[in-house]
Amino acid sequence: MTIAASHAKNKRLKDAIFGAAAACKEATLKHGKDRVTNATIGVMLDDNEELITLPTIEKVFKEIPMKDLAAYAPISGMPEYLKATENLTFAECRPEGYTSAVATAGGTGAIHHAVMNYAEIGEKVLTSDWFWGTYNVICVEQGKKLQNFTLFDENRNFNFASFKENVEDILKVQESILIILNTPAHNPTGFKLTEDDWDKVLDLLKTYAAKGKKAVVLTDIAYIDYAGEKNEVRSFMKKFGNLPENILGLFSFSMSKGYTFYGQRTGALVAVSSKKEVIEEFNEIMKYSSRACWSNINRGAMELLLRVQNDDNIYKSFEKDREEAHKLIQARGDLFMKEARECNLPALPYTGGFFLSVPTDNPQKVADLLHEDLIYAVPLKLGVRVAVCSVPIKKISGMAEKMNNALKKA
Ligand SMILES: Cc1ncc(COP(=O)(O)O)c(C=O)c1O
Repeated sequence: MTIAASHAKNKRLKDAIFGAAAACKEATLKHGKDRVTNATIGVMLDDNEELITLPTIEKVFKEIPMKDLAAYAPISGMPEYLKATENLTFAECRPEGYTSAVATAGGTGAIHHAVMNYAEIGEKVLTSDWFWGTYNVICVEQGKKLQNFTLFDENRNFNFASFKENVEDILKVQESILIILNTPAHNPTGFKLTEDDWDKVLDLLKTYAAKGKKAVVLTDIAYIDYAGEKNEVRSFMKKFGNLPENILGLFSFSMSKGYTFYGQRTGALVAVSSKKEVIEEFNEIMKYSSRACWSNINRGAMELLLRVQNDDNIYKSFEKDREEAHKLIQARGDLFMKEARECNLPALPYTGGFFLSVPTDNPQKVADLLHEDLIYAVPLKLGVRVAVCSVPIKKISGMAEKMNNALKKA
């Protein structure tokens, strides 16, 4: 018996993370928390394995008057909030051109709105083969298809040849292409595109733009605040200035990680174009989608961001809190990578962020073998993901070697 509409009845959300997390929970009950390594959780935990919340954020949030939390917000978001998300997205690397932003329910909402409005129904959206599974869920939900290019070449650099081949393949049939690139601090590998990679990507798209094709590049910057020095990790953004009018740049801004505000579901989709009309159209179509999706988003979180931004002392204290969290997780990732090099574990090139990954032909087997050492990581299609954001440094030590043993056995 099914009562769902025909397009909806086969939808099932398969999440590799929940399976691994459930096995870990069972092991923790049996062996105790201290003996178990839980590398499945995608949020930052401190060295006592408690959720990290930035103290300044907590203090400011608790001071917001009830009426500012409870009132409705404008559909596109509070205007000052939108201005602030643009400034936070670009920092000192603002591209030249017309820019705008729309408030969204987290970075997920921003990706949803981009796919909703810049990919034709039935057509393909391009991303890498190592990717956040939700991209596929969003595409399928909207009747679009996700195509993958191979992210790494044989030297573990950005595989421009595969990117080019896939763009060519899609633009042979489509008039327009939406490309999602999660960089820097990519989930699930911690990889980032270099300036040179970006030049190649944008030069390629310019050649298609000259032939009249349209391209939209959505850069998913969910983890950018844990990727390195603020302006260094944003320097590629300047390249989005003065592009041909048929190339649109989009950035998905999120308060989830940067403000440790995951459950408050607040973000923005930021756009840059050399053409005013493209940005005017962006404002209209995004507002329409927001009305249809969630009407308006969490006012309290927007208010919080403004209170942090508008007070120099609060902002400094917030940045200090965040930098401490960043250092904590970066040290864990760096230690894992150091030990991986020492034992020749072929981990993918991690530069920063919440996750790193080890490729294998048999991810489930490797993940299962790790259970023998009471290590729980997430088996993906192409490898095993380790959430360094949630594992205390004392448990990171020795993990690479155990993974290497599991890999050899598998
Ligand atoms: C790659 C990537 N992009 C975007 C997001 C969006 O998160 P949120 O919707 O909580 O902002 C996440 C969260 O896990 C993610 O891993």
